[in-house]
Amino acid sequence: MVASLELDPDIPLESVSLDFDPDIPVDSAWTPPARWYRDPAFFEQEKAVFYSTWQAVARLDQLSEPGSFVACEVAGEPVVVTRDGEGELHALSNVCRHHAACVAEGQGQTQELTCPYHGWRYQLDGRLKSAPRLGPARDFDRSAFSLPRFQVESWGPLVFVHLGRPERPLADELRPLKLRRLDELFFVARRSWEIGCNWKVYVDNYLDGGYHVSHLHHDLAAKLDLEGYKTELFDTLSVQSCAGGEDARVGAEAVYAFLFPNFMLNRYGPWLDTNLVVPLGVDRCLTVFDYYLEPEAVDKTFIEESLQASDQVQQEDILICQSVQRGLGSRHYDRGRYAPLIEHADHQFHRLLARCLS
Ligand SMILES: [Fe+2]
Repeated sequence: MVASLELDPDIPLESVSLDFDPDIPVDSAWTPPARWYRDPAFFEQEKAVFYSTWQAVARLDQLSEPGSFVACEVAGEPVVVTRDGEGELHALSNVCRHHAACVAEGQGQTQELTCPYHGWRYQLDGRLKSAPRLGPARDFDRSAFSLPRFQVESWGPLVFVHLGRPERPLADELRPLKLRRLDELFFVARRSWEIGCNWKVYVDNYLDGGYHVSHLHHDLAAKLDLEGYKTELFDTLSVQSCAGGEDARVGAEAVYAFLFPNFMLNRYGPWLDTNLVVPLGVDRCLTVFDYYLEPEAVDKTFIEESLQASDQVQQEDILICQSVQRGLGSRHYDRGRYAPLIEHADHQFHRLLARCLS
């Protein structure tokens, strides 16, 4: 007897059970199982989260002029953002409709997008302009070969895309977030760190309500009033804040905002830094920090000292995140508990993920 190789299309190929009930309140809940952070099948399934949320992909200053473009990726999916001659922003698939090469690389200025492989040319809104030497291809309808278009929105100095069907405009998701002087800030520098941990380990560390700060970041803790640390939850947003003191870098208040699932905005002193957490593999991620400054604070020494202090905090977080990733592989650990009055942003993050994946 020959076994049938046909698959029932209604049964998902690999649907890993979540083993996490988002309806259990934080004081009774256990954290997600270690599998969420270690299982390659879970990692594949989880990519859906990035295709169904707003993703920060570029800075507005990179797209200020008509004809500017930025090539980027969302969880491995090639995307290009353009500003056309009329000043409209577009987010397009960056995959040529001919033989799948990436049409745009890097960033720059152009009148049209020309695929480097066979020279297919697209307008900046994605419409196919010409397919040279295609010749007598039958039933070829050029208008059906546009680059697929996605939703795009700007917010403050940032540009976001959504590869699915957004439930709400980005501005609605970010409405509770009031950041000082958002439209006056200057982009100063980008720094990236690759970390040997699942992307969620890094996010969990960020969202622990300042729990780890006094243990792990001694220099930073000395500049903050951790007693007054507070966390507010909104639909897809959480905002942690804490009073500062005399330190010029940290200033009077630090605000740490998180937009589900992988974007952070930190406003403190004259600084805004944004941090995009990019999953690279089940146990590897990249954190991309963009630093912005209030115009009157732009001073070379101050910038260097601040970036140094930021690097120190990041190095401390990297060591602990890599330690957690090793611990999640232990045969003697599977899941833990939340500190209900401190770690509710972590709990919200896990609940949103579970809802998104179920
Ligand atoms: Fe930290």
